Amino acid sequence: EQVYLSGAYLPLADAKVSVLDRGFLFGDGVYEVIPAYYGRLFRLEDHITRLNNSLNGIRLPLPHSVADWEAIFRPLLADDRDQYIYLQVTRGYAPKRDHGFPEQVVPTIFAMCSDIAPFAGRVNGIKAVTLDDTRWQLCNIKAITLLGNILLRQEALDQGCAEAILVRNGYVVEGAASNLFAVLDGELITPPKSHEILPGITRDVILELAAAHNIPYQEDIIALEALHNASEIWVASSTREIVPVIELDGQQVGDGKPGPVWKRMDDLLQAYKTSLS
Ligand code: PDD
Repeated sequence: EQVYLSGAYLPLADAKVSVLDRGFLFGDGVYEVIPAYYGRLFRLEDHITRLNNSLNGIRLPLPHSVADWEAIFRPLLADDRDQYIYLQVTRGYAPKRDHGFPEQVVPTIFAMCSDIAPFAGRVNGIKAVTLDDTRWQLCNIKAITLLGNILLRQEALDQGCAEAILVRNGYVVEGAASNLFAVLDGELITPPKSHEILPGITRDVILELAAAHNIPYQEDIIALEALHNASEIWVASSTREIVPVIELDGQQVGDGKPGPVWKRMDDLLQAYKTSLS
C-alpha cells in the first residue's frame, strides 16, 4: 500500500516522520478527508478551498493548485471501490521544541487512501447523546488537534451511542465528527456556518439538494430544547454520509425510525453521487 509523504510515494510501513515534527509535538497542522467514489474525487475543489481556509487559519498557506493536489492523490486511488483520501499538512520539522513558529518552515505533507466501510447506522439509524462542547473556539479550522472531539466521541460510545451532539450556550452546534440537521415543524434546519462548527462539504451538498428539490430548509440556530422535540435528527459527514438519529438522550426521535425527509435526502444524495460517474 503506497502513501504520499512530502514529495515521494512509498509503502505505508516506510513512511516515517521525525519526532520533532510539530504535528507530533504540538498537533500543529490541519487535515482533510476527501471521498472518492470509484476513483472519482468528490467535490475536490470544495475540499481544497476548505483546506486553504484551514491553512490560512493557522498561518501556513501552501501554493498547491487543485490540479496539483489531484496529481498527488491520483496514484493513491483505486477505481473499483469507494475510498477516501486522508490529507494532513503540519508545520513540519523544527530543530527544537518551541511554541513559536520556527524560522524556516518546511511543511510535512502526508496523504493516504483508505476504503470507505459502509456504515450500518446510515440505514438503521443511530443513538446519540448531547454533551457540553468542550472544544476550543476555532472549530471552523480542520485542525489535527482533535482531543476535544475524541474525548466527546468516546464519551458517547461509552454511553452506547454512535455520536455526540455538542451543546454551546444552550444551542446544539454539530456532532463530534459530523454536522447536524433537524426537521422542526416540517422544515429542515441546520446551524449556520460560524467558528463554532466545521463547514462540512456534505452539509453544503445537502443544502444544495434541498434547494434544487424544493425541500424547505433554513440555516438557523437550534436550541437544545427544540432538538428534543424534532421529528427527525441527522448527522452528516463525508465518510458516513447522512445518518438518522433515532434515539437522543435515551428518548425516541419521531417514531424511532429513520424519517421520510431523511429517506428523501438520502435517495437524492445517492442519485447525485451516481450522476457524477
Ligand atoms: N470529519 N464536523 C466535524 C467536527 C467533522 O470532523 C466533520 C468530518 C464534519 C463533516 O464534514 P464533511 O462533510 O466535510 O466530512 C463536521 C471527518 C470525516 C473526519 O474527521 O474523519
